[in-house]
Amino acid sequence: MIELGATVSEQDKIEVRPIKLKDIDDILSIDGEIRAVGNVITYRNLTTEYILFAGRGKPPQQSPASYIRSLTGDVAPLLNFSFVAEVNGQVRGFILGQVARLREGVTEIGIIQMIGVHPDYHRRGIGSKLIRALADKYRSEGIKVIRIGVDHRDKSLMGLVEHVGFGVDRLVVYSMMV
Ligand SMILES: CC(C)(COP(=O)(O)OP(=O)(O)OC[C@H]1O[C@@H](n2cnc3c(N)ncnc32)[C@H](O)[C@@H]1OP(=O)(O)O)[C@@H](O)C(=O)NCCC(=O)NCCS
Repeated sequence: MIELGATVSEQDKIEVRPIKLKDIDDILSIDGEIRAVGNVITYRNLTTEYILFAGRGKPPQQSPASYIRSLTGDVAPLLNFSFVAEVNGQVRGFILGQVARLREGVTEIGIIQMIGVHPDYHRRGIGSKLIRALADKYRSEGIKVIRIGVDHRDKSLMGLVEHVGFGVDRLVVYSMMV
């Protein structure tokens, strides 16, 4: 349980580490807290459950005590490129990455599928640390480009990615309902 109004002080220890299966329930709980606050823009139509379970079983219909037992199939691609941030040993933020192959000349690209920091812990540098950890991991795997799709109305996510050094790509995504 996360205390309301908790803040990070100078003495608090923020540690970013690779995700483990046991973190999934904490991640889904942070996702729930973020959505309860109601500022989800870029990820409005993309659930964390969808990313975690895609091709790996079906998320339970009702909120169970733990989602971990419902997860099946190959979890390695998920675990390889995802990190959590702990504040004093408690998971307060997460980033889910994935390697994608694109046709635009770059063979492999590192994607940020989703990032979330518990609302009580925003603006403490946690989101930046998560992106840097994932960027280091991609770099160590020889991947030279990291990409995230951001809704142009999502000022916090846009602010974060620009803060850590992302720039707008030449590629503009057009979509059409069919
Ligand atoms: C976007 C998000 C990850 C940022 O995390 P964070 O830990 O607060 O980010 P940081 O503290 O590392 O911010 C670093 C910089 O990014 C920029 N930034 C972060 N949040 C911002 C905001 N709300 N508005 C403008 N710029 C922002 C600032 O430049 C900030 O530096 P500063 O605090 O010195 O001004 C966080 O706001 C979040 O989780 N939002 C919800 C995301 C979401 O919908 N996820 C899917 C649901 S699970």
